[in-house]
Amino acid sequence: MNTFKGRSLCVIDDFTKEERLYLFSQVRKLKEAVKRGDKKTLDSFRINDPDYGIYEVFLEDSTRTKESFRNAIAFHHAKLTEMSADNSSFNKGESYADTFNTLCGYNNRIFIIRSKVEGVCAYLREECSEYAERNSLGFKPVFINAGDGKHEHPTQELLDEYTFLEDNNWDTSYLHIALVGDLYHGRTVHSKADGLKLWDKVKVDLIAPQELSMPSQYITKMKDNGFEVRVFSSIEEYLKNNEEIATKWYFTRPQLERMGEKILQKQDELRATITFKEEFMPLLKENTKFYHPLPRHKVHPTIPTFLDKTPLNGWERQSINGMYTRIVLLGLVAGKIGDDFVSTEKHEVKKEEEWIREVIPTNEKKRVISEGVNPIRDGIVIDHILSGENPEEIRRHMIMIRKVMALDGLKGGEWVSQGSGGFYKGIIFRPGFFSLDHKAIKRLAAVAPGCTLNIIENGKVTKKIKTKMPPRIYNFDDLMCTNEACISNDTQSENVGAMFIRTSDNNFRCAYCGRVHSFKEIFKWKRQLIQNQLHLKH
Ligand code: CP
Repeated sequence: MNTFKGRSLCVIDDFTKEERLYLFSQVRKLKEAVKRGDKKTLDSFRINDPDYGIYEVFLEDSTRTKESFRNAIAFHHAKLTEMSADNSSFNKGESYADTFNTLCGYNNRIFIIRSKVEGVCAYLREECSEYAERNSLGFKPVFINAGDGKHEHPTQELLDEYTFLEDNNWDTSYLHIALVGDLYHGRTVHSKADGLKLWDKVKVDLIAPQELSMPSQYITKMKDNGFEVRVFSSIEEYLKNNEEIATKWYFTRPQLERMGEKILQKQDELRATITFKEEFMPLLKENTKFYHPLPRHKVHPTIPTFLDKTPLNGWERQSINGMYTRIVLLGLVAGKIGDDFVSTEKHEVKKEEEWIREVIPTNEKKRVISEGVNPIRDGIVIDHILSGENPEEIRRHMIMIRKVMALDGLKGGEWVSQGSGGFYKGIIFRPGFFSLDHKAIKRLAAVAPGCTLNIIENGKVTKKIKTKMPPRIYNFDDLMCTNEACISNDTQSENVGAMFIRTSDNNFRCAYCGRVHSFKEIFKWKRQLIQNQLHLKH
C-alpha cells in the first residue's frame, strides 16, 4: 500500500510532517544521483509512461512553478498537456467542475492548477473523484495547488522547507526565520503557518508595514502551532533595537496585481520599508541567508541585485530545488515511489465530540424557571443566547437567528434578560407546535452555540437540548464563505456549497479557502426562508 498514491496537495497540511520529511529524503537522493550521473537511480524515480496524463492549467502567470513542473514531467517521460484558458470553454461560462471532469474523462491523472480562485483544488478533489467513480474511470484524480489567489502555495512551501533543511544541516529542532514583504497577499508565507511545523521549535519575525501585514488568522494559526511570533513594521525597525535577528530571511514581492487602488497609491512608500539596503549589511548576523520565492521586480527588487554574488544568496538554489521537489512529488502521488514509507504517527480516529446534549427537564412547580419558559403552554423557547455579550449585540444577533431558523412571521417574541450570574442573555419564544429535526438543531447550534432549546408541550418542558458549536457545518444552502475569491462564494457562480470546520478557538474555518469566520458570519443575511428546517405542525 503506497500512502502517497492518488493523494492531492491542496494545502501544505495535506502531507504530514513525516511524509514531507520522507519526500525531502527522496529529493536529496535524487539530487545526489543527478550529481553522480547515476542513471539507474534516476530511472527508479521516473513514472516512465508516455500515456500517463498530467495537465497544467495556469490561469495566472508563472515562470518557476509552471516551467519546473513542465521539466519535472519531461523527466518522468509522462504526457504533459497544457490547457490554455484563453480559448477554452471557460470563456463560455463553463464551470470548474465541468471543465475538470471532462479532462479526467480523457484519462488524465494529475492536474496542476494555478488560479485566482481560492480553494479550487480542495473542491475539485472531491468533485472529480465522484465523477471518476460514477464513470468507472478506475483512478482517483490528483490535484496539485500551484497557487490559489492569496491562499496557499504548497509546492513552493515544499521547496522552501527543503532549502531551509539543506542550509540547516537537516536539523529539525529549531528554526528562526524572518518573513519580509507583502505578508498580506503573499500565499507562500501563508503556507508557512502550517508548513513550519516541520521544526520542533519555531520563531517567526513578521516584517511588513500595516497595509501589508500578515492576516490575523495566520498569526493565530502560527501561535496555535506553538510558534513564537514577533511583529515589526519595517526592516529598519527590525534591525535596530533588536538583539535577536534571524539568520534566515524570506522575502516576498509586493503583489501589485492583488492590491486595491488605495494601497497601490502608497506602493513606493510601502516598498521602501521592505527593501534591503546596503547600509543594513553590517547589522546582519553571521551565516545569514536570504530566500525569495521569486519573481523579483526588475526595477524595484526588494533583494537588490548587488547581493546576487554574495553568500547571502539562498534564493537561486531555492529556485533550482523547485524542479527536484516537484519531480519527487509527482513520483509519489503517481505511486511510482514511496512504497517503503512507513508512518510512525498514530492515526487515532477521533470520536466526534457531541455538539448537542439532551438534559432531563425538570418541571417541579416551585422551581424558578427562566422567563419565557413558564407562560408558554406549547411551543419552543431558545434560551441563553449569546450569554455574556452586551444587550445590543444580543438583540442584533437574535434577528439573525430568527432568519436562520425561519422564525419570522410567527407569534411570539424575544428579549434580553439577565441570568443568575448577572450576565445578559437572549431569549426567543414561539408558541405553537414544532418538530425540529437533527438538521434544524444543527442550524441552531451553528448560529447560536451555547443556547438551550426547550420544547414545551402541555405546559411542561418535554425536551431540553444544550448546544455547542458543531465540528462541521455544510449542506445548507444559506451558508456562505465571506471571501469573494473563494470557490464557494456566490460571486464565483460555481454552485459550490459552503463548508466550515470548527477551529480550536471556536470559530469556523472555510474548508476551501481557509478563511476564518465567527459563527455570526457564516449564514447569508439575504437568504430565502428555509421552511422545511422548522416545520409548523399546525
Ligand atoms: N515562486 C513562484 O511561484 O514563481 P512563479 O510565479 O514564477 O511560478
